[in-house]
Amino acid sequence: MARGPGLPLRSLPLLLLLLLAAVAGQAAAQDNCTCATNKMTICSRERPGGRCQCRALGTNFEVNCSSLTSKCLLLKARMSARKSGRALVRPSEQAIVDNDGLYDPDCDHQGRFKARQCNQTSVCWCVNSVGVRRTDKGDQSLLCDELVRTHHILIDLRHRPTDRAFNHSDLDAELRRLFRERYLLPPRFVAAVHYEPPTIQIELRQNASQKAPGDVDIADAAYYFERDVKGESVFAGRGGLAVSVRGEPLLMEPPLIYYLDEKPPQFSMKRLTSGLVAVIVVVVLALVAGVAVLVVTNWRRSGKYRKVEIKEMGELRREPSL
Ligand SMILES: *[C@@H]1O[C@H](CO)[C@@H](O)[C@H](O)[C@H]1NC(C)=O
Ligand SMILES: *[C@@H]1O[C@H](CO)[C@@H](O)[C@H](O)[C@H]1NC(C)=O
Ligand SMILES: *[C@@H]1O[C@H](CO)[C@@H](O)[C@H](O)[C@H]1NC(C)=O
Ligand SMILES: *[C@@H]1O[C@H](CO)[C@@H](O)[C@H](O)[C@H]1NC(C)=O
Ligand SMILES: *[C@@H]1O[C@H](CO)[C@@H](O)[C@H](O)[C@H]1NC(C)=O
Repeated sequence: MARGPGLPLRSLPLLLLLLLAAVAGQAAAQDNCTCATNKMTICSRERPGGRCQCRALGTNFEVNCSSLTSKCLLLKARMSARKSGRALVRPSEQAIVDNDGLYDPDCDHQGRFKARQCNQTSVCWCVNSVGVRRTDKGDQSLLCDELVRTHHILIDLRHRPTDRAFNHSDLDAELRRLFRERYLLPPRFVAAVHYEPPTIQIELRQNASQKAPGDVDIADAAYYFERDVKGESVFAGRGGLAVSVRGEPLLMEPPLIYYLDEKPPQFSMKRLTSGLVAVIVVVVLALVAGVAVLVVTNWRRSGKYRKVEIKEMGELRREPSL
């Protein structure tokens, strides 16, 4: 008897909490001012019922939540979120990290990469439209007269083992649907999907004359895809990437991405670091000798290079023997 009324009394705080959560949840549902395509934003309405405005972290740039946010703004937001990590340790000055692809970029008024990027010191370099360095590093006198467009992107990845290989045409259709529906990329820019189990290659092509105003850029679609595959989705509350081909889940491993620009990159061999030279030499040798299989799988296994840029402008083979 004495226990009867005791129970509800003890669980009162819990009930109150639940009630509060429910009320808060409802308020959020009524005022769901969030950015579906970019969770690294701060959204607000000037007044209740007013327009929901979302601004990218780190820049205050207003983003369009019906479309993808540019890679430049996403990188910037990522770096600004990283800076605020006060509870974290700072790696030693001597620690080496391959952060060539991850820096705090300068974006122009449209959110695109500025052709010239500098770090906080006086070191500058030129980048292409995906923000990848395409010249040697120089000082502040370095000039980059235009933003060179990356018009061809090759995404190369493997899927996890499955009992049977996927049917190529079904896989092709599924990946094209993914790029159209999730990344809003018009289908004409997905040039090809190659498949030789377990390697999948997706080729995106888009030159300046083909791209209409408002079209998603292949640079941004590829970046959203890369983050999705790595389990770091940029989309807000949409769940991770879930692709299946005829009911069979397609689980993808982190991709290698190759970028080809409309103009050849400008590196002087002698000023490259030895590591980079080794990579380039290996790529060149591999292409010449036709042993790309070995080299690429080794890179992937070592997991050391998250991104590899092809510095040579040799035509990508349409059907590499991967
Ligand atoms: C809020 O949610 C409703 C229904 O889920 C949806 O129709 C509406 O577009 C959402 N508004 C915003 C700003 O996301
Ligand atoms: C946002 O993007 C969508 C889809 O590309 C486009 O239709 C719309 O006009 C854009 N809105 C603004 C304000 O630019
Ligand atoms: C800028 O780049 C140079 C050379 O890569 C490096 O030595 C320096 O530490 C960098 N500075 C910052 C603030 O990242
Ligand atoms: C793949 O599936 C399509 C129908 O979805 C079929 O026409 C085609 O023959 C299949 N290909 C193979 C290699 O099984
Ligand atoms: C753009 O691509 C189309 C189709 O691939 C091609 O016909 C055209 O010549 C290209 N334009 C430029 C400037 O490269």
